[in-house]
Amino acid sequence: MPAMIPSIRYLDEFRTEDVFALFTDVYASGLMSADLGDQYACLDDFREKMQEVTARPGAIALAAEVDGKPAGYVTVIPRTAARLRHTADLNMGIASEHRGKGLGKALLDEALRRAAGGGVLEIVYLMVRADNLPAVRLYESAGFERLAVLERDIKAGADYFDGVLMRRFIP
Ligand SMILES: CC(C)(COP(=O)(O)OP(=O)(O)OC[C@H]1O[C@@H](n2cnc3c(N)ncnc32)[C@H](O)[C@@H]1OP(=O)(O)O)[C@@H](O)C(=O)NCCC(=O)NCCS
Repeated sequence: MPAMIPSIRYLDEFRTEDVFALFTDVYASGLMSADLGDQYACLDDFREKMQEVTARPGAIALAAEVDGKPAGYVTVIPRTAARLRHTADLNMGIASEHRGKGLGKALLDEALRRAAGGGVLEIVYLMVRADNLPAVRLYESAGFERLAVLERDIKAGADYFDGVLMRRFIP
């Protein structure tokens, strides 16, 4: 399938309801380490926490727009401790109906480009489930390296999954 060239916008340009619906869809894939409900109790909680993390110096929060709605997101959230503010955690997801069209690559490339231009972030980390091959391949192709495999890091019901800690230095 030819890559779709999305319009990439700031996440907060979209209605919070639409962004929350996107996150709900992404987390429903079951490949994320956490459930959405572990992190956000409700829409208002989501709005409040997103506002807090995206206001941090160096934070990046982007969405790919398709038909006026956010179809994928990427967030790069700097850590808060004074000696860790040059480091950040990356999270991303594409709506299930829009995967495999190049949106993930476009969003990730743009987030890394902005991180390099922002002058704040020097290291980006992420955690991904080892069996999430689309995500692992995308991250490796964008220059992330595998730092460690965390065996049995994720427990979903009776099933265990390894996690992979990945890192990319920002030039
Ligand atoms: C992982 C994810 C973000 C990829 O986004 P996407 O828009 O589907 O990916 P793209 O179409 O931009 O593809 C970019 C690269 O990802 C990899 N990839 C994407 N889909 C893949 C698949 N089904 N199998 C293998 N590799 C795949 C490939 O390396 C691909 O590059 P290529 O087309 O040159 O081969 C998306 O599938 C997703 O949201 N998954 C669920 C949520 C998730 O896992 N988030 C990450 C948690 S850490």
